[in-house]
Order: sequence, then structure tokens, then C-alpha cells
Amino acid sequence: MSTFQLTRTLAPDAAAADLRADVLHGLTRTPKELPPKWFYDARGSELFEEITRLPEYYPTRAEREILIDRAPEIAAATGARTLVELGSGSSEKTRFLIDALLPGLAAYVPVDVSESALTGAAEALLADRPELRVHALIADFTRSVVLPETPGPRLVAFLGGTIGNLLPEERRTFLRSVREMTAPGDGFLLGTDLVKDESTLVAAYDDAAGVTAEFNKNVLAVLDRELGADAHPDDFDHVARWDREREWIEMRLRARHALTVKIPELDLMVEFEEGEELRTEVSAKFRQEGVRAELAEAGFELTRWWTDAEGRFALSLATAL
Ligand code: SAH
Ligand code: AVI
Repeated sequence: MSTFQLTRTLAPDAAAADLRADVLHGLTRTPKELPPKWFYDARGSELFEEITRLPEYYPTRAEREILIDRAPEIAAATGARTLVELGSGSSEKTRFLIDALLPGLAAYVPVDVSESALTGAAEALLADRPELRVHALIADFTRSVVLPETPGPRLVAFLGGTIGNLLPEERRTFLRSVREMTAPGDGFLLGTDLVKDESTLVAAYDDAAGVTAEFNKNVLAVLDRELGADAHPDDFDHVARWDREREWIEMRLRARHALTVKIPELDLMVEFEEGEELRTEVSAKFRQEGVRAELAEAGFELTRWWTDAEGRFALSLATAL
């Protein structure tokens, strides 16, 4: 039996329809905005991996440090036979968890919108672990995800701080849907970046080498390729700003001059004034009490809270009630 299976729960025409709806909604309103999931075509997934290696971008290193220390404890506490990972990307840090859960682990179920990330991750994992069963799902975790029938107990992981890329109301809906993926006693492992000084945060989202700027502008390339638009990266500046009240970073694209982006596939002309900004991502930062409360509201009890030695990033283990 093959150890790798890839299921496309998101038909290509459904993804295309979602993009059209998001662009029509987000670029005809004021202020303009687009959801961050459109960063992640093959190039965007590569750029994100480059970001994780930047000196300024601490979250990946901090979370890896926690996972290396705590994976055996997580495996013992959950006894998980199925590991589901939402927004799994390269699964690079997840291997510590997988190795702690093997040999009892019956299935690893990575879920991502990026097909290239899923196939690359499975290839890398299976090269060293031929006994691992990987059932990858191309799916949008903001929609209901239909998981394969695999043995419990289940551990659902959502790493990297990606929960911060959802707006508060989206987080509520998302956490409830995670609770629906689990049975009482199952585990939920959640990575959250923590509130810290503004200069560290802004540098992490506006690196000196300009990789995050390229990642941000990649959404324009997606619009051009998928919708025949004529957006040009040189017409926009990358902006990363800390919102002290909401405790989130916002990434934006700011028009360098007045311009019109033509989007023939939508029969749409989008006007930008000079300096007008398009919000492309929020990246919320958290505190322990907020995480505990949001988990509780969704039907999870926070049982463990670990941070890296510098207290920059937290990994929470919660149990479905
Ligand atoms: N968990 C990995 C990757 C984080 S990058 C890490 O910690 O390094 C965010 C990942 O979530 C990307 O791989 C992206 O393709 C995926 N993603 C973003 N929005 C998504 C959505 N709505 N549904 C499914 N996957 C999504
Ligand atoms: C995937 N996510 C947690 C990243 C973050 O830090 O919000 C995406 C990212 N955006 C800019 N740099 C990295």
C-alpha cells in the first residue's frame, strides 16, 4: 500500500471562484484588503520558507526550539495515533512531533492550500521515514475540512502562529471548526507568537534583505497570472505596521503614485490614489490569558503552555472537552 496519498478537497475551479469573490469584494471596498491565503502559490510558499531563515524572523526558530524540547511530552500526553496539521507548509518543524509519535502514529494528515508545499513536505518526510503514512489534503482550513477516517486519538496541530493571520471573528469560527474535528479527549496543539516590543516585531515583517516585501508583492503576481491583471510590483511599497491597540502587525501594499489596475477577468478597473494602501495580512500577537479564553470559548481546555527560552513564542496544548 502506498504511504502517500493526496486528496484534493478544493476543486481548482472552486479555488478560482474564491479568488474572484475575494478580489471583487476586497478591491472594491475602502480600505482595500485581500485575505493572506492568496500569497501561497508555489513561489509564495518558497518565499515563506526563505522568510523562516531570515535573522529578523524569530517565530520559526522559537517554535522549533519548543518542539524539540517538548515533542516527547506532547506525544506522551496525547498518545495520538493521527496527527492532523492545518496550514502545514513544509512540515519542517513537525518532523520532531512525528518522530516522537512514531511508531504508534497511524497517519499524518497535512492540510494546506499549497499543493507544492504538500508534495514537497511529504517527499522530505518519507525519504527518512518510509513507514510513515501521509494522507495530504489540499483544503482551505477556513472552510469545513473533511478528514479521512483514521484511528484516534487525534491531535490537531496549527503551528507557526498562522492563527494570527485570521481576524478575531474568523478565529472564533475557525476554533469552533477545529473543535468539530476532534472528539472529547483529543488534543489541539497551537503555536502563537507573543506580544513584544514594536521594533522586534516590525523588523520581523520588514527584513533588511527585502524577502518579506517580495512575499507581500507576490499577491500581485497571483492576480496577474490568475485574473489577467496588470498590477506591477514596482508601483507599490511594502508596509509593515504595528497596531498597538489591536496587538497585530498589518502588512500592506502602498501605491507609489495614482494608478489603475485592470482586471479583465472580472471586468474591473481598480483605482488607487497616491499613497492608498491595500491590506494583505494581519499577524496578531497573543498573551496567555487571551489564548486560554479563546480556546475555552471553542470547547478546549488549555493544559500546557510552553515558551522558548526568550519568551517570544508560545506553544499551547489543549484538550477537547
Ligand atoms: N505551519 C508552517 C507554515 C506556515 S505558513 C510553519 O509553521 O512554518 C502558512 C501556511 O498556511 C502556508 O503553507 C499556506 O499555504 C497555508 N495556508 C494559508 N491560508 C490557508 C487556508 N485558508 N487554508 C489552508 N492552508 C492555508
Ligand atoms: C504564516 N504566518 C504565521 C506568517 C506570519 O508571521 O504571520 C506569515 C508571514 N507574513 C509575513 N512574514 C511571514
